[in-house]
Amino acid sequence: MTQPRILVTGATGKVGGAVVAQLRAAGVPVRALVRGEAEFPEGVQAVRGDLGDPASLGAALEGVDAVFLVWPFLSADGASDVIDVIGKHARRVVYLSSAGVQDGGGKEEAGEAITMFHTELERLVEASGLEWTALRPTGFAGNTLGWAQEVRATGAVRAPLAGLARPLIHEADMAAVAVQALTTDALLGARPVITGPELVTQERQVALIGEAIGRPVRFDEVTLEEAVEQMKAAGYPAELVEAVLPAQAKMIDHPEPVNDEVERITGTPARSFREWAVDHAADFR
Ligand SMILES: NC(=O)c1ccc[n+]([C@@H]2O[C@H](COP(=O)([O-])OP(=O)(O)OC[C@H]3O[C@@H](n4cnc5c(N)ncnc54)[C@H](OP(=O)(O)O)[C@@H]3O)[C@@H](O)[C@H]2O)c1
Repeated sequence: MTQPRILVTGATGKVGGAVVAQLRAAGVPVRALVRGEAEFPEGVQAVRGDLGDPASLGAALEGVDAVFLVWPFLSADGASDVIDVIGKHARRVVYLSSAGVQDGGGKEEAGEAITMFHTELERLVEASGLEWTALRPTGFAGNTLGWAQEVRATGAVRAPLAGLARPLIHEADMAAVAVQALTTDALLGARPVITGPELVTQERQVALIGEAIGRPVRFDEVTLEEAVEQMKAAGYPAELVEAVLPAQAKMIDHPEPVNDEVERITGTPARSFREWAVDHAADFR
């Protein structure tokens, strides 16, 4: 495709925001789906629409060739109608899925709510008749922004599983892969698992955030039971808490594989968690 017109959903979020910025920097015409007021780089057109209301998406999809699709809900309800309406306008969809999705349906993951909706979204995208790519990232480095407020307030993080090591991925790397999928034919019909460059324990992540902000940050380990209560009290939906923590506990014994797909696809090695922490130091200061 040459100079496709692209609609980015989740454009005010971590990954969609990075996709918008990188497409703009490359001079590709970008439209951002928004639900409210939002600021974007000059030249980005913001159009209102809500993924929970497929009928609201028509204006945003008018004249669009490709869509970067972030599904912001915890179930696939309504997804079929959204993909139908995308198919009436665009010819390509790039879906932000998850590394938890297993080809052929992994039994271990079968009961896991988040993996289930991503599996269903991938199925819908593949059956849509559109050109498609499903990106399967591991955990986001940006999840650690959930610690930002307590780091600023207390200089410590109270969390379970200090020794849990994950290859967290920088949103800029997910965006760089998404830009390839949106603007070239290199990833048509592909489901690349994309990871950060190395396993980093949660305790080390906290230490690297401390290095990035120039003062030490302590990791105070709590039990899984305490963490469940803590997350629910902080307003996280029960389905999310009940899906995420047990899945993370399993990863202690079965760490996620690390790969070099980001470099293979984009030509640039995946950014480290240290780099992510430096890029986001202001959020933790
Ligand atoms: N976190 C992880 O470790 C991980 C791993 C693999 C996959 N994922 C997937 O990544 C996705 C989240 O990406 P992210 O972290 O970049 O998102 P994010 O920063 O949490 O932002 C969510 C985005 O979705 C938009 N949104 C929310 N509800 C919407 C609606 N009803 N209609 C239209 N837009 C809506 C928000 O817009 P507003 O500004 O209007 O709220 C915002 O732009 C999820 O699908 C998740 O399952 C996450």
